[in-house]
Amino acid sequence: MTSRLTEIYKRLEEPEFRILRIIERHMKKYEYVPIELIEKESKLPPSKLSNSIKKLSTLKLVRRTLGSIIGYTLTYLGLDVLALRGLIVRGIIKDLRDRIGAGKEGDVYIGITPSDEKVTVKFHREGSAPFRKIKRTRSFAIDMSWGSMIEVAKVLGEREFRILVELYNKGARVPEPVAWNRHAVVTKYIEGSIELYKRPELDEDEALEVLKQVLETIRKAYMDVGVVHGDLSEYNILVRTKDDKVEAYVIDWPQYVYKDEPHAEELLKRDVQYISRFFRKIYGVRIECENALKYVKGEINELGIR
Ligand SMILES: Nc1ncnc2c1ncn2[C@@H]1O[C@H](COP(=O)(O)OP(=O)(O)OP(=O)(O)O)[C@@H](O)[C@H]1O
Ligand SMILES: [Mg+2]
Repeated sequence: MTSRLTEIYKRLEEPEFRILRIIERHMKKYEYVPIELIEKESKLPPSKLSNSIKKLSTLKLVRRTLGSIIGYTLTYLGLDVLALRGLIVRGIIKDLRDRIGAGKEGDVYIGITPSDEKVTVKFHREGSAPFRKIKRTRSFAIDMSWGSMIEVAKVLGEREFRILVELYNKGARVPEPVAWNRHAVVTKYIEGSIELYKRPELDEDEALEVLKQVLETIRKAYMDVGVVHGDLSEYNILVRTKDDKVEAYVIDWPQYVYKDEPHAEELLKRDVQYISRFFRKIYGVRIECENALKYVKGEINELGIR
């Protein structure tokens, strides 16, 4: 099944992409980019420009000012289309299929690469849960204009991609990062996995193995990369069985903090306690939170299980 985003994308022609890019470029300066500027930079004849803008408005990729001066701003959908264009032009994906991840604020889709591999494409939203956390710990995010909200979504995309590369290179169990464009992050699709919150059936040994893999990843993140996930829960852990072995992946990293940031220790403790308690309660794993915390910090090298 093709997504609505792809359907919209396929209806656009180069002049329309050009207009979107012009609007995007000026959004740092203007909340609504004046039509005169779009006209000048697009070099399109007035009738073509007006038809294209109409089409972009109808498709809800741009929004017009309500005031007397005519100007346009990009919508999230407009930004999504530009990121999709960037990924397709660079040959990262050739198609975007179903939407996954019951879509709270972030939008996650399945993408298809030119060699027919499955990837996930996550479009960041500045208002998603991770961002609220960043907002709490960082002052830059207060009182933002629409233009700077779009910038924040892009920052989150780049942030998540770059940290995934570091984590993946250190052997942490995260999805393999493929590329990013603007606010969109592409990772390899973990085929056959389900989220831990759906409580996959695991016997005691398997549950212990999943927890070990998760804590080992949190340890590598802390010790080798110097970061804390900050939003670890059953919603951000994928589990699957491959070749009869159970595997865990820790996803959703944009809210990470460096270990020397003010709340890092607190967040690490929360992450580790939360997930250890989850495994104790749901799967009966006999884990001591204190040991788990010492283990991820590298103070002990064995995860003691009672
Ligand atoms: N690499 C992947 N392989 C398979 N599924 C994935 C992958 N990455 C993400 N998903 C799916 O997408 C969902 C959302 O991903 P993620 O947690 O990274 O984004 P989010 O911003 O929290 O989105 P949401 O608010 O929809 O949960 C996951 O719960 C999972 O089902
Ligand atoms: Mg998530």
